[in-house]
Amino acid sequence: MTQGRRRVAVVVLAAAGVLSGAAANADDAPAAPRFAEGAQTFLANCAVCHRATGVGQPGLAPPLTSYPARYIATAEGRRQLVLTALYGMFGEITVDERHFNFKMPDFSRFDDATLAAVLNFVVFDISHAAATEAPLQPEDVARERSAGLSGEAVRRHRAEVLGAPAS
Ligand code: HEC
Repeated sequence: MTQGRRRVAVVVLAAAGVLSGAAANADDAPAAPRFAEGAQTFLANCAVCHRATGVGQPGLAPPLTSYPARYIATAEGRRQLVLTALYGMFGEITVDERHFNFKMPDFSRFDDATLAAVLNFVVFDISHAAATEAPLQPEDVARERSAGLSGEAVRRHRAEVLGAPAS
């Protein structure tokens, strides 16, 4: 891509709200993240599907750029984030009017602090939740360890959180 065309593409994407800061394409990690340890975990374990900027991949993995900021603002939404990380998610979902129907693996092997940090990176650095929202704590993860949900149950809980019927 020539310099000029690249600049045009960056302007278009930035205007669409897809990018923030200095990130110039989907595989560039956000610069200077607030949750730096979470960023490391995300790049090593999540970016393969969700891309480094969390824009996702059509038909494969949903974008994480808007819904996590909604989830963090309610008690059940906060639980939903933790449940997704602990137990994965399976079945059809809609994100910003786009459909996804695939399997998110579970990450229960990670400790509470690691999962809280990677979710906070998603919520605040990728989805740009307001800084006034309280970050997730390791205790929020620990509390859900005994829930023992399936990925399908996590998907149904998501539908309840978003107020849509669980299809
Ligand atoms: C193998 C690919 C894959 C990997 C790796 C992966 N995800 Fe996912 N993720 C998905 C898919 C697919 C979905 C949607 C599942 C569905 O269609 O039911 C999803 C859904 C999500 C959601 C819910 C989005 C919403 O709108 O409710 C969050 C949050 C999330 N992933 C975070 C993560 C984090 C954090 C990691 C790393 C610790 C990660 N994902 C790793 C594929 C992946």
